[in-house]
Amino acid sequence: MTSFCLFLCFQGDYVWLDHKTGREFDVPVGAVVKLCDSGQIQVLDDEGQEHWIFPQNATNIKPMHPTSIHGVQDMIRLGDLNEAGILRNLLIRYNEHVIYTYTGSILVAVNPYQLLPIYTADHIRLYTNKKIGEMPPHIFAIADNCYFNMQRNNKDQCCIISGESGAGKTESTKLILQFLAAISGQHSWIEQQVLEATPILEAFGNAKTIRNDNSSRFGKYIDIHFNKRGAIEGAKIEQYLLEKSRVCRQAPDERNYHVFYCMLKGMAPEMKAKLGLGLATDYSYLTMGNCTECDGRNDLREYSSILSAMKVLMFTETEIWEISKLLAAILHMGNLRFEARTYDNLDACVVVRSPDLVTAASLMEVEPKDVMVCLTTRTLITRGESVTTPLSMNQGLDVRDAFVKGIYGRLFVWIVDKINAAIYRPPSCESSLIRRSMGLLDIFGFENFFVNSFEQLCINFANENLQQFFVRHVFKLEQKEYNLEDISWQHIEFTDNQDALDMIANKPMNIISLIDEESKFPKGTDATMLYKLNSQHKLNCNYIPPKNSYETQFGIQHFAGVVHYESRGFLEKNRDSLHTDIIQLVHSSRNKFIKQIFQADVAMGVETRKRSPTLSSQFKRSLEMLMRTLSVCQPFFVRCIKPNELKKPMLFDRELCIRQLRYSGMMETIRIRRAGYPIRYSFAEFVDRYRVLMPGIKPSHLQEDLRGTCQQILTARLGKHEDWQIGKTKIFLKDQHDMQLEIDRDKAITNKVILIQKSVRGLQARKNFLRLRSAVTVLQKAWRGYQCRKKYRIMKTGFLRLQAVCRSRKYYRSYRKTRLRVTLLQARCRGFLVRQAFARHLRAVLTIQAYTRGMIGRRLCQRLRAELQRRLQAERQRLAEEEQLRNQMTMRRAKAEAERKHQERLVQLAQQQEEREREVKEEARKKKELLEQMEREKDQPVDHSDMVDRMFGFLGDSGPLPNQDGQAPTGFEDLERSACAEEEEVLGEGLRLPEEEEEDLSQFKFSKFAATYFQGVSTHTYIRRALKQPLLFHEDEGDQLAALAVWITVLRFMGDLPEPKCQLVINDGSEKIPVMTKIYETLGKRTYKRELQELQVEEEVRWPDVQKRNSVRHKLVSLTLKRKSKITEEVARRLTEGGDYALQGNSMLEERPTSNLEKLHFIIGNGILRPTLRCVTFTSLKETLEI
Ligand SMILES: Nc1ncnc2c1ncn2[C@@H]1O[C@H](COP(=O)(O)OP(=O)(O)O)[C@@H](O)[C@H]1O
Ligand SMILES: [Mg+2]
Repeated sequence: MTSFCLFLCFQGDYVWLDHKTGREFDVPVGAVVKLCDSGQIQVLDDEGQEHWIFPQNATNIKPMHPTSIHGVQDMIRLGDLNEAGILRNLLIRYNEHVIYTYTGSILVAVNPYQLLPIYTADHIRLYTNKKIGEMPPHIFAIADNCYFNMQRNNKDQCCIISGESGAGKTESTKLILQFLAAISGQHSWIEQQVLEATPILEAFGNAKTIRNDNSSRFGKYIDIHFNKRGAIEGAKIEQYLLEKSRVCRQAPDERNYHVFYCMLKGMAPEMKAKLGLGLATDYSYLTMGNCTECDGRNDLREYSSILSAMKVLMFTETEIWEISKLLAAILHMGNLRFEARTYDNLDACVVVRSPDLVTAASLMEVEPKDVMVCLTTRTLITRGESVTTPLSMNQGLDVRDAFVKGIYGRLFVWIVDKINAAIYRPPSCESSLIRRSMGLLDIFGFENFFVNSFEQLCINFANENLQQFFVRHVFKLEQKEYNLEDISWQHIEFTDNQDALDMIANKPMNIISLIDEESKFPKGTDATMLYKLNSQHKLNCNYIPPKNSYETQFGIQHFAGVVHYESRGFLEKNRDSLHTDIIQLVHSSRNKFIKQIFQADVAMGVETRKRSPTLSSQFKRSLEMLMRTLSVCQPFFVRCIKPNELKKPMLFDRELCIRQLRYSGMMETIRIRRAGYPIRYSFAEFVDRYRVLMPGIKPSHLQEDLRGTCQQILTARLGKHEDWQIGKTKIFLKDQHDMQLEIDRDKAITNKVILIQKSVRGLQARKNFLRLRSAVTVLQKAWRGYQCRKKYRIMKTGFLRLQAVCRSRKYYRSYRKTRLRVTLLQARCRGFLVRQAFARHLRAVLTIQAYTRGMIGRRLCQRLRAELQRRLQAERQRLAEEEQLRNQMTMRRAKAEAERKHQERLVQLAQQQEEREREVKEEARKKKELLEQMEREKDQPVDHSDMVDRMFGFLGDSGPLPNQDGQAPTGFEDLERSACAEEEEVLGEGLRLPEEEEEDLSQFKFSKFAATYFQGVSTHTYIRRALKQPLLFHEDEGDQLAALAVWITVLRFMGDLPEPKCQLVINDGSEKIPVMTKIYETLGKRTYKRELQELQVEEEVRWPDVQKRNSVRHKLVSLTLKRKSKITEEVARRLTEGGDYALQGNSMLEERPTSNLEKLHFIIGNGILRPTLRCVTFTSLKETLEI
């Protein structure tokens, strides 16, 4: 913050920056404070430039009124109601593409130089029947107010559109016309005609200038007439001051009137040929500005629109053709060449004979010779005598140009009249009372060029008039308002431009009349005129006389500034009359049209023509008429502003704009306002705006005594005796008071804003906090839920596990208990069983023991008996011998001898006994050894094959060598012997073992089964032959073959079929593959039929007839066990030769002899793996075993 002596300024504040350059059109520029640092201020102005303000230049900046910061719609509201304020307001709005702004009832329109989307049908609808100020400023709002005021107040309206060339007057006029046509009518013919007048007027009255591609070179006032219902009924166009000189001369880069270029571009070639026309570049009148084309305009298209507009406005074909003829004649005239000559020491000239001359003359239907004479000589009539004098070349050229201008000017007037004839309906008596009109004045604004000629004087004079009208209107409005509001305004004074107007045209000896007078005076020249002006007006403060007698310029202080006029050429221009010769020439023409447009001139006599009104008097008269018309109208003002000279959008030239603002006279409004109370508020507005200054004041709509409240505020804030006034509905304030109120309001609002901000921030923070809190709660809820669920799940799992553990323990315990019990029971049972078994065993053992002991006992007994027998026999023998010997010897001796012999025999017997015992011992020892050996062999690997062979050795011809008696297998030798021994030995009867209960199987007789199921002739009796077909029916080929193979194997196992004779050693390793594996492999391939058939076919082809059967068999062989062995040809042959056994279908059985184990495996394996074969296997076995 920096404090200056004048005011405090903060960063971001808006200020006015006055560079104080002293230039005429320099006004303070708006700026924003960027930095406040140690007494210096950095500001950024509206143009985007930065400036440092030092304390010594502190007066260069002033605070900006708040209303100026962001712009207002009505500039009357600006606190800074000055040029700078208005300029900035226009600038900031223009930068936002807002081109319209009000200043009271005046509409300021800044030319956007681009098409803005603000003229649509929607906009027309939006602005219809709205009060000014109700909607944003717009040209339509003005048009709408004009129209509705007219209807409401039953009063004629006018709309004065002014501004520099190119500021947008004509466009605004057209927009208003469009709006009126849209809201008033029903697209009637007359409406269309009124609208179509514009293109014709523009074609003949507009041209491309450096400022405007479609610059109107005349002023116009269109008076539109409305009927009672508000529909367009007609119109009248008034034209002012067409710039005729343009026909002959154009500044660089400018063009002649559009119509010439359009005609040359758009006219049909044959018509052009008739008129002798070529290209625009062929005509010197069209090429002076070196510009025949205009960007953005299409001359060809324009021409057709001109023609169609002419047709709408009732131009006949002949008229159009006649117009074209005259235009062509003008162009040809322009191409005439003059040559300077001297006759009798007099400068003279001749027109070079050329096709142009002939064509021009023929188009005007005059003699070329007459044209030549007319352009090179002048006839003067003095005292009844006519004298012809030659003209110099320059004079000749001037005459030609004057003629051409005369033609064009009159043509233009004729066209306007023609248009009026079409669109103007003179009011009938009663309709004049109810008919209302609305005038649109599209007139050139105040002009101040480097060199200003007579036309500028006329234009500025017109603007001076309009300005006065404007000022009076504004002041009148002000007065009206003060009166209405009961405000004392007597002390408010204002000055208008009456003095200047008086000097130019009103008071006797005014400038216009002096010029006029001098124009009519035969000897009058521009110099005499200037002299008279000087002498008459040099004391007038609005007149600025030339600085010296050589100076030809005089100045006039206009409302918008001083303009210096170049007096040379004034009189000539003012006279604006054609020479008699030319009128004569026209008179001689056979062309009715040219005669018609010159009608007035031709009709006038020579003398009357001399006294014919000058241009200025004509203009003054029409202006007076216009002002009269305007004065009875309710006026609206549109001030068009051109933002730059380059016709570029978004470019704002401050100096150019401020100049136009000054010329527009808008400052007068401001001045008038300033003289009184420039700031006004309605009570409601005031209360609403300033109620913040006093606590406790309610808004306006809740107030009962608004006036009282306003007074209360004003008294409190400004003091009772200050210069402010309260009207009936409004408050009137001076600038400084408003400023004071604004500053106070600003402070108060700032405080309130801070309060509101505080509360809002608090509210927001609270809201935010609550939102956060609820969010947090939600989060927490979710999180806690999640946590709890997680814990619960863990706990649940834990409990489940606990339950499981408990249950398992319980079960374990009960299991253990049960087990224990079961074990105990088992133990008991086992014990019981064991005991039972033991008892049984014991019994058995005892029995065995008993039997064995019995047997031993019997054996011992037998032995003892035999011993006894032998001993008895020996005794008997001794006795016999004793007897015998007694005969021979003494008794005693015989006895001794017999005894001795008996003893010898006893010894022998004892020896025999001993011998026998030793044998028995030996045998026992052998048995023991054998047992031990068996015991040892038990741990040795068993040769199953041998075992089987041994086991089934009893079948006789089985075994490695079939049909040979085998020996009892090792370990079973004793069986035979013991069986034999048992047969020999009578061991007596042992204990009978309990008989097993037998099932009654009588119903399930095998014979019965065989009779039912066996195929063919097979019976339940065993046949020792190979079968032709399986016993049972099998669907599967494999099963059939397997069944046959099984049967053959059974036969072989039983020894009823011989083993294959040929013992081939096929070392393909397949022998090592267990039989089971082979059987297993054949499974899955349940049917080989297709394969088989294929094979058969194949074989048939290869081995016709003979080998057919064999190949099938071969296949059967290989398919049965799927043995893809390398069967040699021999095997194949053998197979094909095979007799009864040939259909064995098993290579295993065919190729080589197999062991019993293999056979057994094969039989049982098939039984296991082929469920359908189980029956067969069983049947085969059963049949076999039944034998
Ligand atoms: N309201 C507008 N919107 C768009 N362009 C405009 C507008 N007013 C004027 N212009 C442009 O400015 C040019 C000059 O306008 P014009 O009305 O002919 O100026 P003036 O009649 O004041 O000499 C137009 O040709 C047009 O390009
Ligand atoms: Mg214009």
